[in-house]
Amino acid sequence: MKIYNGGKILLGLIVFAALFASPFYLNMGKVSAKPELKIDTPEIQKLKDKKCVEPKEFMRAEHMQVLNNWRDAVVRDGDRNQIIISGQKYDKSLQNGCMKCHSNKKDFCDKCHNYVAVKPYCWDCHIAPKENKS
Ligand code: HEC
Ligand code: HEC
Ligand code: HEC
Repeated sequence: MKIYNGGKILLGLIVFAALFASPFYLNMGKVSAKPELKIDTPEIQKLKDKKCVEPKEFMRAEHMQVLNNWRDAVVRDGDRNQIIISGQKYDKSLQNGCMKCHSNKKDFCDKCHNYVAVKPYCWDCHIAPKENKS
């Protein structure tokens, strides 16, 4: 048995499959790439020991809880005792604590939040750091 124009059909199928799949290949790096987070802010550069409030893995998973605990301490218990990181004192505060070090909100908090599609409402009231880049 002879398939009519079998070679051309096969070639056509291969080309079709490649074109059909190309949007997935072209988007691969873009969609799944983890955002690169910058921690080279002036305040962090000053630190001898480049540490966060808690170890990095803990912060990554639990930073919202840290913020809740701070807020409860300050707002409910009136406890404004500062915390010490690498010999420096920081307020238990969103604006004057976290954002003092992470002053690059757009390249840090926002980048990750956009990636995971969360939008904290905190900035309705709390003042975000001034940044000139958009
Ligand atoms: C409706 C306005 C409002 C919103 C929204 C809001 N806050 Fe606050 N927050 C306040 C006020 C007012 C205080 C009291 C400020 C003080 O006494 O220093 C405060 C205090 C805090 C404090 C302790 C002190 C300080 O200066 O940071 C933390 C931490 C905090 N909020 C975190 C958050 C987080 C995290 C979110 C978002 C999940 C959030 N807040 C959303 C109004 C708000
Ligand atoms: C003293 C400066 C400083 C303060 C204050 C600070 N951070 Fe950090 N943060 C850092 C540094 C430095 C790192 C990187 C730590 C590392 O690489 O081990 C970091 C890491 C993180 C990470 C993990 C990033 C990643 O790569 O996954 C998150 C999330 C984070 N911080 C959120 C916060 C939040 C929220 C607050 C306030 C509750 C805060 N930080 C307060 C300096 C600070
Ligand atoms: C490595 C990624 C990453 C970075 C960096 C990061 N976040 Fe988040 N953040 C998340 C994720 C994921 C959630 C959602 C967690 C959940 O819903 O359980 C979240 C949630 C939050 C929430 C709670 C929002 C809500 O509505 O419940 C606050 C507040 C918050 N982040 C503040 C910050 C601040 C401030 C910074 C920068 C200093 C920051 N985050 C940096 C990943 C990140």
